[in-house]
Amino acid sequence: MKKSSNLLFLFGLLCCFSACKNESTIVPSTPLLLEQHRPVFHFTPPQKWMNDPNGMVFFEGEYHLFYQHYPDSTVWGPMHWGHAMSTDLVNWEHLPIALYPDELGYIFSGSAVIDWKNTSGFGKNGQPPMIAIFTHHDPVGEKSGSNTFQYQSIAYSNDKGRTWTKYEGNPVIPNPGVRDFRDPKVIWDDDSEQWVMVFAAQNHIKFYGSPNLKDWTHLSDFGHEWGTHAGVWECPDLFPLIVKGKGEKKWVLLQSLNPGGPNGGSGTQYFVGDFDGKNFVLDESFAKNLTQDSTIWLDYGRDNYAGVTWSDVPQSDGRRLFMGWMSNWDYAQVVPTENWRSAMTIARNLVLKKTYLGYRLFSEPVKEMATLNKDTTVFKFDPDGHYLQPIAKDRKILGKVTLNFSYDENTDGFVALQLSNSKNENYWIGYTTKSGQFFSDRQAAGKINFSEKFATKKHTAPRFSNSKNIEMEVFLDVASAELFADKGWTTMTDIFFPNEDFNQLDLKVVDVEGFVLHEGKVEWY
Ligand code: FRU
Repeated sequence: MKKSSNLLFLFGLLCCFSACKNESTIVPSTPLLLEQHRPVFHFTPPQKWMNDPNGMVFFEGEYHLFYQHYPDSTVWGPMHWGHAMSTDLVNWEHLPIALYPDELGYIFSGSAVIDWKNTSGFGKNGQPPMIAIFTHHDPVGEKSGSNTFQYQSIAYSNDKGRTWTKYEGNPVIPNPGVRDFRDPKVIWDDDSEQWVMVFAAQNHIKFYGSPNLKDWTHLSDFGHEWGTHAGVWECPDLFPLIVKGKGEKKWVLLQSLNPGGPNGGSGTQYFVGDFDGKNFVLDESFAKNLTQDSTIWLDYGRDNYAGVTWSDVPQSDGRRLFMGWMSNWDYAQVVPTENWRSAMTIARNLVLKKTYLGYRLFSEPVKEMATLNKDTTVFKFDPDGHYLQPIAKDRKILGKVTLNFSYDENTDGFVALQLSNSKNENYWIGYTTKSGQFFSDRQAAGKINFSEKFATKKHTAPRFSNSKNIEMEVFLDVASAELFADKGWTTMTDIFFPNEDFNQLDLKVVDVEGFVLHEGKVEWY
């Protein structure tokens, strides 16, 4: 991280701690960047528990990131919305907690929008209000055995998300008797001229419409018969995208579920189709690839969950920006970090392309990541054509690795990046030529015994592209790897916890006939 961003980061923390003085937050005992396993360029809460990203909205030059937060413990508890802000999606400033639990319950996941036309009437002095739409979760109701303890509510802010007022008419959508009834994501639909809300109801998604964010009507349901139902459905997102290079508009539904993810535990599947202001109908070619239990995943790693996209990103920017929670309910509450728990993924741009397999979502790291680049190492070769090892030694492995390679057909080997330290711990991320799969292996990457579900096997992800060149971009921070392969067609996000930070990086090419490295470099952050 650049010096200026470090300063911004520390300034953010100071702001937070002075602003939070009267609240029961606990200041960490160690300067944050010195804490073991604390990522450098991924967002983490200053202290205590964090899960899903919430209420992501862009307004007046600021990207807001709210998040599920319990400020009194490093394990999940009464949920608040923590708050941070960034002007570049890379450097984050911590702000005071935005929403606190109240008599209607904990503040569960949800979204935020700018009510440009002041349909809600919450605007002030001609300024549009920021509206948060979230689930109230009543823990007393839950314990009593009732099924109606989750319902949708709203709150508004007239000062760019700094302070909030909850609507006195809450909840805006009461619970009809469904145990899991949560995580509203709202968009304004220009075609049907209404607010559209999607939220998860156990094994399907519900669609509601509203003229003013306060009065909602049930439009339709989707999902009983599609995708995987191996776990509870949570945190959906619905948005239109123009198919790249085609000018055609399609709608994308993101759908997290837990458990049942591609390599175990939490995961996010998605659907592509059409939305007419009432019903979401799956695209025919997309439907062909799905059966009741097979699905298409946004990310094949174990640590990208409950991710949704930013609202109100200006049309002049045009991106559909995404961020996920970089953990997994299988072990999130016991990962070996001390003062805080969990990080978010880096921000990604979701792009819809028409491929030989049908419509597919590609995840691209946001271009702003490049601002972190301090210096670059290009992989070197000796006169015999062998690249020189190691690629890096005695250097914190922090940055983006780019690999572009090809090989002869019918070989049975692998190409991988290996991160290691003086304790002989290592983490591998690469590609197996025979199976044609990407893999991530954290089984020898340090601490694993905190949960028997953490490092049970090598994680694998299919390769979809049929181009000869394999392109891998891997973002390596202190405790995570995010793979964007073939321009983001396959992504894989995994966390790990070495006892000593990895400080050596090697490229291993084993039993691969005709291997040619077309590009190999590290952009150091
Ligand atoms: C997803 C989730 C949401 C819920 C929130 C509670 O990780 O379970 O469904 O709103 O976390 O913290």
